Amino acid sequence: MNSESTDSFGEILSEPEAKFPGQVVTVDLGERSYPIYVGTGVLEQIGPYYVRHCGVRRTIVITDENVEPLYGQIVLKSLQDSELEAHLISVPAGEKSKRMGVAEMLYDRLFDLSVERSDAIIALGGGVIGDLAGFVAATFKRGLNYVQAPTSLLAMVDSSVGGKTGVNHRRGKNMIGAFHQPRMVFADVNTLKSLPDRELGCGLAETVKHGIIRDGQFFAKLERQNQMVLEQDRELMVELVERNCQIKAAVVQADERESGLRGILNCGHTIGHAIETVWAAHGGDIHHGEAVSLGLVAVGRLAVRRGLLRQDDLERICRLLSSFRLPIRITARSNKERVGQGPTLQELPGELSEMPVAELYEAMQQDKKVRGGKIKFVLPKGIGDCVFVDDLTESEIQPVIHSLVT
Ligand SMILES: NC(=O)c1ccc[n+]([C@@H]2O[C@H](COP(=O)([O-])OP(=O)(O)OC[C@H]3O[C@@H](n4cnc5c(N)ncnc54)[C@H](O)[C@@H]3O)[C@@H](O)[C@H]2O)c1
Ligand SMILES: [Zn+2]
Repeated sequence: MNSESTDSFGEILSEPEAKFPGQVVTVDLGERSYPIYVGTGVLEQIGPYYVRHCGVRRTIVITDENVEPLYGQIVLKSLQDSELEAHLISVPAGEKSKRMGVAEMLYDRLFDLSVERSDAIIALGGGVIGDLAGFVAATFKRGLNYVQAPTSLLAMVDSSVGGKTGVNHRRGKNMIGAFHQPRMVFADVNTLKSLPDRELGCGLAETVKHGIIRDGQFFAKLERQNQMVLEQDRELMVELVERNCQIKAAVVQADERESGLRGILNCGHTIGHAIETVWAAHGGDIHHGEAVSLGLVAVGRLAVRRGLLRQDDLERICRLLSSFRLPIRITARSNKERVGQGPTLQELPGELSEMPVAELYEAMQQDKKVRGGKIKFVLPKGIGDCVFVDDLTESEIQPVIHSLVT
């Protein structure tokens, strides 16, 4: 990463990594390298780090209407204290803002503010804001610098790292986008205190996934300390975010544009995305991490059937997901408890009295991980390793999907 000092803003700027009161993970991508800062109560210090990595410029903070009243002013003040001209733009919260229409509204605002290529954007919020603001940064005037300031656990452990940006299209989620690496990621785990429990769970689903595919010891630590995680012990949360970022950074470094290895991060997502799409199409309410949790159980079962995973390890996966209040099966009861206000599968109209396997298949075929008509799955190989499998037959997949519904 870029470690030379070209500024004159005092100690913090000449050696920011050494002075940072927390952990720093480097994403090593040659000239696109960047640091991930992870700390507690550090958001009010973002200004000097922004200056260090983006230069002294104007900055546009893009956030959502939930995050703005909580952290918008803290960030603006820190930027202004660093003598930056800072503007804040807020969009409605939630996945519905991750679309082209909202990106165009943001382009209009950037034109109104006469934003130049030398200015930069800060994405302050969850994964929706990171993906949307990152996409706007990637495309406005052929690309601006941007910073990820994640405030949801999912964004800290997953979406803020790796440079995937984009918006949804009616034909598919994340289908319009660009790879565009941020200049830095700045994560303050104290912001997680205001995060709804259900959103915390969604970040934990990706955390469990990282343990399953890459780090059995980390998985075991999560098992031992699951209560402390739920209580958000500060030191543990810093360690948790740091370890997730190390895992994701290592995978991204090896395969930045997902031509191979990076695909392992999709473990649980082929089935998870299909569940998300089909459920949403029927008016249900399921969050990404909840669908991923169900997807991880499904690939765990497929792996047991293939002799890649022991039954007791599958049970460990299910226990850990459950302990994080994530769904491991779809029942009327668990829907009501876990999947908010949306209709349960049993309450949905028509023939949807059980998981609509045919529709799930169709949704999986649409998934961008399908190559040459084959659906590519990432199956755990024990806990801490995984393999790509593309020869699973419909007769193997069907019973596993059915088994999610009890
Ligand atoms: N780019 C990638 O590599 C990547 C990886 C995984 C997921 N994603 C994307 O990330 C998105 C999901 O991210 P998400 O779960 O963070 O969703 P989100 O951005 O919608 O955030 C979830 C909710 O929490 C609120 N929130 C965020 N931080 C808060 C805080 N500190 N306090 C209180 N409320 C807070 C938000 O306003 C929102 O209502 C999806 O669109 C998914 O496709 C992208
Ligand atoms: Zn995910």
